[in-house]
Amino acid sequence: MAIIDVPTKASRNLMPQLTGWRLTWVLVLAIAVFATTVAVAAGGVAGANEGIRITARTSAVLFLLAFTASAAYRLWPNDATKWVRRNRRYLGVAFAGSHLVHAGFIVASVVLSSARFKAGVERTPHAVYVLDTIAYGFILAMAITSFDRIAKQMQYATWRRLHVIGSYVIWLTFFVAYWRRGITYPLFYGPFLLIILAALVIRSVGKVKRKHAAADD
Ligand code: HEM
Repeated sequence: MAIIDVPTKASRNLMPQLTGWRLTWVLVLAIAVFATTVAVAAGGVAGANEGIRITARTSAVLFLLAFTASAAYRLWPNDATKWVRRNRRYLGVAFAGSHLVHAGFIVASVVLSSARFKAGVERTPHAVYVLDTIAYGFILAMAITSFDRIAKQMQYATWRRLHVIGSYVIWLTFFVAYWRRGITYPLFYGPFLLIILAALVIRSVGKVKRKHAAADD
C-alpha cells in the first residue's frame, strides 16, 4: 500500500455536503458576488482594480491548494489534507472560475479607464503579459480537460503532461506577479511571495517522498 492510501486516524468525512462540483459552484459564486459587491461599493475604475486584486488572491489560494494537495497529504496525512486532496480537481476548476472573474474585472478596468490601463501596461515588461496569456491558455485547457467526458478522449500521458506543465506555468505567473510587487512593497507583499515559494517546496518535498516510498515498495 502506498503511503498516499494510508487511512488517517478518525477519518471523518469533512464537510460532506460541500464537495465535488457543488464545491466549485459555491466557491465561484461566492467569489463573484463578494468581489462585485466590493467593486461596486468602491465604484469606478478603483472598484474594478479592487476586484482584480480580490480575485487574484482568491485564485492564488485555490490554485495553491490544488497545486500542493497530493504532496500535503503525503507529508501530513489528516482529515483536512485528505479533504483537499479528494477535492483538488474541484478546487482547480474553482480557481479557473475565479480567474475568469479576474479577467472580467480586467476588461471592466479597461472600459472604465483605458488611459489608466495603458499607463499600467507601459510600466509592465511585455514578457509579463506574454506569460499571463500563456497561463490563461493553460488555465482554459486544464479546466476543459478536468471534465471526465473530455479527459477520457485523451491519452493519459498527454493529459498528465498538460496538467503538470500547466501547473508550473501558472505557479510561475503568480511568482512573477508577487515578486514584482514584493520588490516595491516588501512588507505587504513579502508574505504572499513566501507562501508562493513555500508551495513549491511542499510540492517538491512531497515528490521526493513519493519517489522514496515507491522505491521502498
Ligand atoms: C494567469 C494569469 C494571471 C495571474 C496568475 C495574475 C495574478 C495577479 C496577481 C497575483 C495580482 C496581484 C494581486 C494582489 O495585489 O494581491 C494581479 C494583479 C493585477 N493583474 Fe493579474 N494575473 C494574471 C493575468 C492578468 C492579465 C492578462 C492582466 C491584464 C492584461 C492582468 C492585470 C492585472 C492588474 C492590472 C493587476 C493590478 C490591479 C491593481 O493593483 O490595481 N492580470 N494579478
